[in-house]
Amino acid sequence: MRKFYIKTFGCQMNEHDSEIIGGILEKRGFKATDSIDDADIIIFNTCCVREKPERKVYGQVSNLKQAKLNNADLIIGIAGCMTQQAGEVERIAKRLPHVDIVFGTMNIHELPELLDQVEAGHKAYRIWDKEPENNENPLEGLPIRRVSGVSAWVSIIYGCNNYCSYCIVPYVRGRERSRKFEDIISEVKDLGQKGFREIVLLGQNVNSYGHDLKNGHDFADLLHALDQTPGISRIRYMTSHPRDFTDKLINEIATSKTVCEHFHLPLQAGSNKVLADMNRGYTLEYYLDLIARIRQAVPGCSITTDLIVGFPGEDDNDFAETLRAVEEVRFDSAFTFIYSPRRGTAGASMHNQIPDSVISDRIQKLVATQNIITGEINKGLQGKTVEVLVEGTSKTNPSMLSGRTRTNKLIIFPFHPEARIGELVKIKITKARSWTQLGEVVSV
Ligand code: SAH
Ligand code: SF4
Ligand code: F3S
Repeated sequence: MRKFYIKTFGCQMNEHDSEIIGGILEKRGFKATDSIDDADIIIFNTCCVREKPERKVYGQVSNLKQAKLNNADLIIGIAGCMTQQAGEVERIAKRLPHVDIVFGTMNIHELPELLDQVEAGHKAYRIWDKEPENNENPLEGLPIRRVSGVSAWVSIIYGCNNYCSYCIVPYVRGRERSRKFEDIISEVKDLGQKGFREIVLLGQNVNSYGHDLKNGHDFADLLHALDQTPGISRIRYMTSHPRDFTDKLINEIATSKTVCEHFHLPLQAGSNKVLADMNRGYTLEYYLDLIARIRQAVPGCSITTDLIVGFPGEDDNDFAETLRAVEEVRFDSAFTFIYSPRRGTAGASMHNQIPDSVISDRIQKLVATQNIITGEINKGLQGKTVEVLVEGTSKTNPSMLSGRTRTNKLIIFPFHPEARIGELVKIKITKARSWTQLGEVVSV
């Protein structure tokens, strides 16, 4: 039996697309393998949000040149966001001529056709340049090879209309297209019946859900409709934009049984000047007020964020405002990124780019500040008993189990007869650490 290997870069959306690619390959008779050396087909599902993951793909695919020379039947494919950038297919053809298949973010359903072409001895490169018409969703109903049996990703909206000035995503994923309300509900029902316990609703901007549909349903309505799904005990979503986070939505989350008490709200920067230059559509004051409203409505919730350091024009004062904002909000954790200019975005052509040395100094300060806060918050968990969904054995320590709290803290704990995968258990936190917390099962 022929084997496939998929290497995924980037966000959950890409991880989920890889599950669909895997589903299609399985349906075609391929079998998954964990070893790239064993594979008859290797697919790189790529990300181009920053330069680093892109460089990695070029490096890793380059390294396969010899493997392809040794085995002419080996099929190498590149999928995902990187392929959708202007001029990228030509670049791939020139720099990685041993690649057989290229397919874009909305061409996944065409994979069988592309494989036919390759098996007939041709190269098959297919990306899209025009959104599907009439809200048609070419990805609806495709087979999905889910990596977890406990937590399932469910797409609710594709693309992004926000055009934050640093970001490539709207260019490579297209304009916002909401998936049909009924299609989402029936997928989640089906997942509940199949034994999944958690669903993660996916979109670049989930709280725009429904704006392009004519039936008046928004994201809060969707959460409401999903709340009573039999079998599903937790609902998460990502990512949400602070600007579109309405009181209706906060209220829905506060009253919902299953939607988790975790808010990931990318702030990006603490200076109003930088926020305006980034085209984020809110001020720091608005953001702080939003956090206050959330904390009032959902006491005990966790709040996490994304921050970018070194956006063009960010001066010392602007950066000091980001630090101040971090100290004021006290995020549970933060993803911190060095600004990476992306071809074709407004940010890339701004002239006041920041030197690397200044950026590295700033990011170190930012990470150190956040680490102290994360440490203090997690220390407060020590001795507490929390509800954890057992997700599987720990990736870093296979002799332990791992799971998450509703607030999305990763907990590692020893095996226990009551802690079966997919069950909710009570765990007492015995040792707080910066990334994962150690705990033990409390018998009830
Ligand atoms: N749609 C999501 C996430 C997009 S990408 C959202 O808007 O929240 C995830 C994160 O990558 C962003 O929140 C941002 O912090 C970071 N990011 C995006 N483009 C970047 C760039 N050009 N350089 C550095 N970080 C970037
Ligand atoms: Fe990028 Fe902004 Fe859209 Fe997020 S909201 S995907 S950061 S353009
Ligand atoms: Fe990367 Fe595409 Fe996600 S650019 S962050 S994989 S939407």
